[in-house]
Amino acid sequence: MKTQRVLTGITTSGTPHLGNYVGAIRPTVRASRLAEVESFYFLADYHALIKVGEPARVQRSTLEIAATWLACGLDPDKVTFYRQSDIPEIPELTWLLTCVTGKGVLNRAHAYKASVDKNNAANADPDAGVTAGLFMYPVLMAADILMFNAHQVPVGRDQIQHIEMARDIAASFNHLYGEHFTLPEAAIEDHVATLPGLDGRKMSKSYDNTIPLFAPRDQLRKLIMGIVTDSRAPGEPKSTEGSALFQLYQAFASTEETAALAQAYADGMAWGDAKQVLFERLDQEIAPLRAVYDELIQEPERIERTLKAGAEKARAIATPFTARLRHAVGLRPLQAAATRTTSKANKIAAPTFKQYREQDGLFYFKLIDAQGALLLQSTGFAAPRDAAQAMARLQREGSAALEALATHIAMQGNAATVAAALRSFAEPQ
Ligand code: TRP
Repeated sequence: MKTQRVLTGITTSGTPHLGNYVGAIRPTVRASRLAEVESFYFLADYHALIKVGEPARVQRSTLEIAATWLACGLDPDKVTFYRQSDIPEIPELTWLLTCVTGKGVLNRAHAYKASVDKNNAANADPDAGVTAGLFMYPVLMAADILMFNAHQVPVGRDQIQHIEMARDIAASFNHLYGEHFTLPEAAIEDHVATLPGLDGRKMSKSYDNTIPLFAPRDQLRKLIMGIVTDSRAPGEPKSTEGSALFQLYQAFASTEETAALAQAYADGMAWGDAKQVLFERLDQEIAPLRAVYDELIQEPERIERTLKAGAEKARAIATPFTARLRHAVGLRPLQAAATRTTSKANKIAAPTFKQYREQDGLFYFKLIDAQGALLLQSTGFAAPRDAAQAMARLQREGSAALEALATHIAMQGNAATVAAALRSFAEPQ
């Protein structure tokens, strides 16, 4: 049984590098193979528009990142792999969430605050150069996560605040409109080291010190030969501590291989030789993936088809869920409006079970639809626990449980309507 939903996105604003591979892509692909998780991976191209104003770069990055995931072994038949902008329900949900998000909460978002602080320091208008897109970034991200009711969201530390905001936004919505959203949690890969870049600082696009994951072999060698080292001569013992070269090697090599390199350092291995060892070890893992990548990138139409198929899978969830959310907030067809005039009835956003005790001393439950119409009525139970268990079983198994519970059902409405109502309880939505 798939019990946990895991979801993560990558912004399509650049070319994947070794740091992305070690920190995010490799662990995520491995995790996606676990039987008990249901994974959602997507290309966050709406998010890319916030930072990138070059259409060709957004498109190229989307292709490169999609090809990278696939080349690294993501199996689109096992996971739901899609492009954010293929799911029109995401911007729709963004709006519903925008309307329950405090502006003050967004004022405190790190990325926005950093821009404001910079402007203040430069004596500029606090919001100079800040788009409403940057300000709204956390809400769009919350929509990504909440649309699929993800439990776990693997992200880097810099994204923890965004997941916390998604939780808060979900809780506000649930409070106002009923329990629609799972509260997500950030999953931080503590044991995955941050990879150093060419200059020894964290490998990052913003430091311009990255090694592209699928650089051609000779470019990879050239880049590795340019990694900073200290000035110890061949024959002098080298320290593994603080050696970017060593940390990079460690991220790819086995424990034994790593120990062997540490020994070679102590024995005075020349930096040039150490770089050659690192290059060969890296290339050993990357070369087979690079071959697949190079092939895929030549066939963008194949990737396009894969993404479209993924979008279809994602929308099989997003479309009905959005319909339910629209109903919950009151975006509804008008026919039924006249019959629901009390504010209490209007608050009932989705089908609900009601449990109660009758004059006869027995315990009953009933299922009513969003408009308060009776869909299912139980017979009387002597113990409240038995009534609750029957109810829970219906919520869990849906109409499949109806037959087994036939003797406890006194009245049933239209079978298709009942089935649809019961489906709205089944997790995950
Ligand atoms: N903001 C994330 C980043 O820059 C990318 C992202 C967008 C994301 N939507 C998401 C990550 C939803 C996890 C879940 O890294």
